[in-house]
Amino acid sequence: MYLSKEEEKMLESENETVAKSMEIIVALAKIFGAEKLIKVSSVHISGVSYQNIGDEGLEWLESLNSKVVVKTTVNPAGMDTVRWKEMGIDKDFYEKQMRILRAIEKIGAELILTCTPYYLNRPKFGDHLAWAESSAVVYANSLIGARTNRESGISAIASAITGRTPYYGLHITENRAPTIVVKIKGDISAAGYMLGFQLEREIPYCVFDRSVSEAELKLFGAALAATGNVTMFHAEGITPEWKLFEKPKERIEIYGKVSRDCEPDLIALGCPHLSKNELETILKLVKGRKVKKEVWLFTSRKVFDESREVVEKLEKLGIKVFCDTCMVVSPATEKFECVMVNSGKALTYLPKLRGVDVAFGNLKECIEKAIE
Ligand code: F3S
Repeated sequence: MYLSKEEEKMLESENETVAKSMEIIVALAKIFGAEKLIKVSSVHISGVSYQNIGDEGLEWLESLNSKVVVKTTVNPAGMDTVRWKEMGIDKDFYEKQMRILRAIEKIGAELILTCTPYYLNRPKFGDHLAWAESSAVVYANSLIGARTNRESGISAIASAITGRTPYYGLHITENRAPTIVVKIKGDISAAGYMLGFQLEREIPYCVFDRSVSEAELKLFGAALAATGNVTMFHAEGITPEWKLFEKPKERIEIYGKVSRDCEPDLIALGCPHLSKNELETILKLVKGRKVKKEVWLFTSRKVFDESREVVEKLEKLGIKVFCDTCMVVSPATEKFECVMVNSGKALTYLPKLRGVDVAFGNLKECIEKAIE
């Protein structure tokens, strides 16, 4: 495997964090048969909730002793860093979570605490990235045409410290070709959830039977990544690389519908985090009526700040808008029995990670449930 002089120097660095990071990148390159490393233009780190990484993860992060060399952003944490008490988070959890965040900040990463980094810092078509949030990976590859494999929290940090990632997988043009054509009808998010079970690691070429919004494609990709480890899809007439490759011969059809019901005591929206547009759509759907159930929305602090007026109106109607965290990575949702979502990713992980029952509906159905 070829290493440049600079890369060899990092491997032999006296700084243990730099040397270890380069060792991780080189080991991954060998596992995946990469012949060289490439520079990345940004890194997105996941796995920063104290709920998920515990004391061991915290101590490892605190032991890091170097700075990131590329723009590095960070996924949601286990709580809203301002309104954590309102979420029912205890002091001990708060303090441990803040130590994690301080350790990550110390290496130079930006604490944007969102799984939608592309709303804050949109990569360009063709950019090479090392991103570690599955929903952001599928979004960047599919909707933007940037190039990233699905990194782990650790390999993303190693890329942030070295500025490199192994050149394999979706960094290489021919590996981005679709492998199967899928005709899609029905609910888009549900279709992503169902399709993932059938398409382990494939790249679907999707043909939708109607026009679909960016928000729907975001939900679709997140669900596909959750159930099928899918890292990229093409959407005919929509995504930037749909015309680039030959259409695969294999074809299937799917009708998106998920029947999962229970009587929700929480309606949680924003998996992936909501955009300004989606917050406005929710406000419109509520039509000024007071909500009768607990409704939590999740977004980034940046979008929250940019949507102050909408957020204030939503809060007046009894809806809580939280930042920095989400229904899956925060322990706050564990106190509920049944959580209603419109996200196939949340549907996958809420029962597994938070031990709650889940009801599924589209955005309109979720809002209707909140005000009925
Ligand atoms: Fe984002 Fe949490 Fe869903 S990190 S994609 S809102 S599980």
